[in-house]
Amino acid sequence: MIQYNQIPSPCFVLNERKFRENLALIRSVSEAAKVEIILAFKAFAMWSAFPIVKKYIQTSTASSLAEARLAFEEMGNKAHTYAPAYTDKEFMEIAQYSSHISFNSIAQFQKFYPKIAGQNISCGLRINPEFSGVGTDLYNPCSPGSRLGILAENLGNKLPEGVEGLHFHTLCESNSFDLEKTLLVVEKKFGHLLIQVKWLNMGGGHLMTRKGYNVEHLIQVLQAFKAKYPHLHIILEPGSAFAWETGDLVATVQDIVDNKGVKTAMLDVSFSCHMPDCLEMPYKPAIIGGLEPQVGLPTYRMGGNSCLAGDFYGDWSFEKPLQIGDLIIFQDMIHYTMVKTTMFNGVTHPAIGIWTLDNKFKLIREFGYADFKGRLS
Ligand SMILES: Cc1ncc(COP(=O)(O)O)c(C=O)c1O
Repeated sequence: MIQYNQIPSPCFVLNERKFRENLALIRSVSEAAKVEIILAFKAFAMWSAFPIVKKYIQTSTASSLAEARLAFEEMGNKAHTYAPAYTDKEFMEIAQYSSHISFNSIAQFQKFYPKIAGQNISCGLRINPEFSGVGTDLYNPCSPGSRLGILAENLGNKLPEGVEGLHFHTLCESNSFDLEKTLLVVEKKFGHLLIQVKWLNMGGGHLMTRKGYNVEHLIQVLQAFKAKYPHLHIILEPGSAFAWETGDLVATVQDIVDNKGVKTAMLDVSFSCHMPDCLEMPYKPAIIGGLEPQVGLPTYRMGGNSCLAGDFYGDWSFEKPLQIGDLIIFQDMIHYTMVKTTMFNGVTHPAIGIWTLDNKFKLIREFGYADFKGRLS
């Protein structure tokens, strides 16, 4: 059990035990299905935890030069890189840190492939199967007019010389049945191309560590697909699944304001700066001790500490009235949080720490004025 009163507020705290449980499950799927599962940095790039990751999983994806370099420096391996558009300025450095590079269009492939041909970097194309069960457009790579991936009708029957793999990413917090349906569409639209490549990257969104996810079914789906295409090396690159429910954001009530009966607990964290998905998706995070609003119980919005008018979320009821100084623990705040934070308004960035296996708090990093100033000039 994490002792929250031992943690400085505000702070992102990774629960090492839960993190290792996720890693162990992911490794077991990889071994049972004989597929490569790699960590998507875009969801989780807390590199102080990479020594733990490396005990289970060796490789990672990158979606930029910075992530590719981090893979090389901190995971000690070259990345599977996919970015929506590579630039002349960065491409050769990205290539230095990548074992695989997927391109979002044929034009990008044709422009950059000649620069790395013969360098032992396996190149692929991102395809768009135009099929996804993701309900939120912001997270749906297959929504009409999407800029991500090449449509079957634009690819023809023969892949360009030098293409060794195909990559699709269509899922988001999805289950194995969504993957199964997607694979049927991929086969229908791109099956004739699968025999021309060596690998297929099935992207992210496989939330295999969520309670109730049918892991056995995922393994069966992958095994069945591999049986059909034995020549293919299969890669999955989930992000959220690695960090799902592995830690919290610890915050503290600094003030309570009342506007015609609407009470807001003013915190030392911000939805906009530290939990942006809550506003973007949007979704309501779980708070320890926070209940769905109930008549008769003290009820509050949680107010962020930036000046953005919409930097709040509500409502939660509590058994007892909140007091200044009370801890507010936002749960499941490790994926797509640290990687997305900003220092908008100069608000203090939460510290980063680990609650270790031997039940101790290890502070990894605090942030201050130099970090704010260093991003500007
Ligand atoms: C290309 C690609 N791969 C992998 C992922 C990771 O997805 P998730 O964190 O949902 O598993 C994403 C997420 O946006 C992505 O765009």
